[in-house]
Amino acid sequence: MIKKAVIPAAGFGTRFLPFTKAVPKEMIPIIDKPVIQYVIEEAAAAGITDILIIVSRGKMAIQDHFNPEFSLEDRLQKTGKTEILEELRSIDSLAKLHFVYQQELNGLGDAVLQAKSFVGNDPFAILLGDTVLSSATKPVTSQLLDAYEKTKSPVVALEEVPWEVTSRYGVIDGASDDEKLYELSGLVEKPAPEKAPSNLVIASRYVFTADIFDYLEKTPRGKGNEIQLTDAMRAMLKERNMYGLKFDGKRHDIGNKLDFIKSTIEFALNSDEYRQPVLEYIKSLDI
Ligand code: UTP
Repeated sequence: MIKKAVIPAAGFGTRFLPFTKAVPKEMIPIIDKPVIQYVIEEAAAAGITDILIIVSRGKMAIQDHFNPEFSLEDRLQKTGKTEILEELRSIDSLAKLHFVYQQELNGLGDAVLQAKSFVGNDPFAILLGDTVLSSATKPVTSQLLDAYEKTKSPVVALEEVPWEVTSRYGVIDGASDDEKLYELSGLVEKPAPEKAPSNLVIASRYVFTADIFDYLEKTPRGKGNEIQLTDAMRAMLKERNMYGLKFDGKRHDIGNKLDFIKSTIEFALNSDEYRQPVLEYIKSLDI
């Protein structure tokens, strides 16, 4: 049973400036919850009990969000706001959270390396802190953990994207019997569409065994002069089997402004409270 997860949340979030100058992008809300809370809820729903969040300077709001605020709780209690009080308390008990600093922002691979001593020899999950994966059936992390149980090998979440956007992602090459679970044969970071081996991209969730750290430690700086997780995975793939799972669900990359806008509308339209008023408002815009 995999019980540990790592959430990289140290990045600058330059795509969401100026907002991210003073507020971590992982704290961008969809309706009333910050992205990283959805991510932690997904991990907890998959049975993860210990989570290491990789942070950097200026990310204190993440720690504050998950720390109990007793004077606020006291006020809510005294004013009879028990529903929201219960909700706040349930956030505190989602999982045991740990924090570590990434001193220099040298890329996702370097961020994951900061988790080495937390992980020890256990297999573990990685969930990017700026991306929500929604699913009507099963939390996406649970789907990946099931695939890990089956293969006993590292497995990443895969999403099919339009060919013209492959240059934004890590792209896989591989084969599948069921068009769901792919055995990987190659990985390319941000290839131009004409050079992409497929249009299946790594979608912000991973399950690794602890030997990923051996490869990360040997990985030189790559694209963007950063230590790329994909480069370490490519080295690992030469020596062991790895898999990709086309998950059942949808990816919402909140670090990207258009995805953020679309996700806010979609989550509102899926909520009992906001669906009707939002639909009425859209109608009233006469567009
Ligand atoms: P992104 O590339 O989306 O994050 O990394 P970024 O660099 O913050 O974003 P932009 O491109 O400048 O807008 C994916 C995840 O990896 C984390 C980010 O916080 C994000 O959750 N990350 C990235 C780190 O923790 N450390 C890094 O050095 C880079």
